[in-house]
Amino acid sequence: MLSRFVNPVRLLGSSLNGVRCKSTAVATSASIGSKSQAVFDREDRYGAHNYHPLPVALSKGKGVFVWDVEGNKYYDFLSAYSAVNQGHCHPRILAALREQSEVLALSSRAFYTNVLGEYEEYVTQLFGYDKVLPMNTGVEGGETACKLARKWGYKVKKIPNNKAKIIFAEGNFWGRTLAAISSSTDPSSYDGFGPFMPGFGIVPYNDLAALEKELQDPNVCAFMVEPIQGEAGVVVPDPGYLSKVRELCDKHNVLWIADEVQTGLGRTGRLLCVDHENVRPNLVVLGKALSGGVYPVSAVLADDEVMLCIQPGEHGSTYGGNPIACKVALEALQVLQDEKLTENAEKLGNVLRSELGKLPQDVVRIVRGKGLLNAIVINSKYDAWEVCLRLRDNGLLAKPTHGDIIRFAPPLVITNEQIQECSQIIEKTVMSFK
Ligand SMILES: Cc1ncc(COP(=O)(O)O)c(C=O)c1O
Repeated sequence: MLSRFVNPVRLLGSSLNGVRCKSTAVATSASIGSKSQAVFDREDRYGAHNYHPLPVALSKGKGVFVWDVEGNKYYDFLSAYSAVNQGHCHPRILAALREQSEVLALSSRAFYTNVLGEYEEYVTQLFGYDKVLPMNTGVEGGETACKLARKWGYKVKKIPNNKAKIIFAEGNFWGRTLAAISSSTDPSSYDGFGPFMPGFGIVPYNDLAALEKELQDPNVCAFMVEPIQGEAGVVVPDPGYLSKVRELCDKHNVLWIADEVQTGLGRTGRLLCVDHENVRPNLVVLGKALSGGVYPVSAVLADDEVMLCIQPGEHGSTYGGNPIACKVALEALQVLQDEKLTENAEKLGNVLRSELGKLPQDVVRIVRGKGLLNAIVINSKYDAWEVCLRLRDNGLLAKPTHGDIIRFAPPLVITNEQIQECSQIIEKTVMSFK
């Protein structure tokens, strides 16, 4: 296990960090003008510079589309990092938000409410776990899972006090807190933020032999991993990897935490990405699309043996499990099922990848993904940021990750016709580099 996981491969910067910016024309040749520039300038003047957005200033969203302040319309091929699986401003989810906000918005967990149990019953039955622990953001879900695993490590596995270890995969991304960056192998995430959380280890992603070596350490309580690494550039492990992770964790009495914050909730063509291999992690972390993008809602699912290790007063959040969050999440989950969005992601993901596969290989080196979580890798002689600017000009918004990778993850409500149109936009853009 490396002490600070320094990996020269990951020196390229993350998708959430900066690259150059340039403003040009937009969807069907409308231009980014002074209204957009005013938005860019004000954010730049008054906001922290912890993001470097693509130069487009959005003011409206509906379904698969977003509009900028000039009135230009775009396909959204990022979906707020897969939070908007159900499409922008889904009317049913907004109605749930509106209705509950007028009755009881927040109580804190100091008291019971009439909606938390309803949500807890629904979400645990849907995913087949004994219990849920509700939080707000994805990173809080990850923190919660790590805390649960450590407690279980001491109470059940009998790891000596303060010796518990959690193993993560190289290239992981689970947020920006000190714990999350302590497991990061991306210098742009961790550089200058030490000292780091002890008791974390790293193994290469998709490397079962390396994983087994680490799991032999009796102080390891958990292995936390994304079934497909999203921020790393939609890195899909070999078939069978997840089943073998399950086997190895069982063999060495280690909990498997699946970070499904980005991959879960239909995105990859299954309700959970782990369902592709019909395996069941000990803990599942959900976030993002759990609210359809209208509210921060996250959750950890686990069985009693793990969940009941935490007692009253040992973990929580003022907003976690609040009435609005519960109603919004209930509706967001029901929309996923009623509109068969998982099935749509599976079907149209195949269509999209088959269209992307026809692009000239001297520009697009690799096409990969599952369902509607996809990426293309651009030949290094071209600039992925420039590709995204031209996509924007042609009416489609996407963002580079790690320099040469562009993620394509539209809302799951997209239709076959729209996927065909988007494929043509992507083709036209790519051909403009030839
Ligand atoms: C796999 C994964 N886990 C956790 C997170 C963190 O979620 P949040 O930004 O809501 O804290 C992200 C965010 O991109 C993610 O992709």
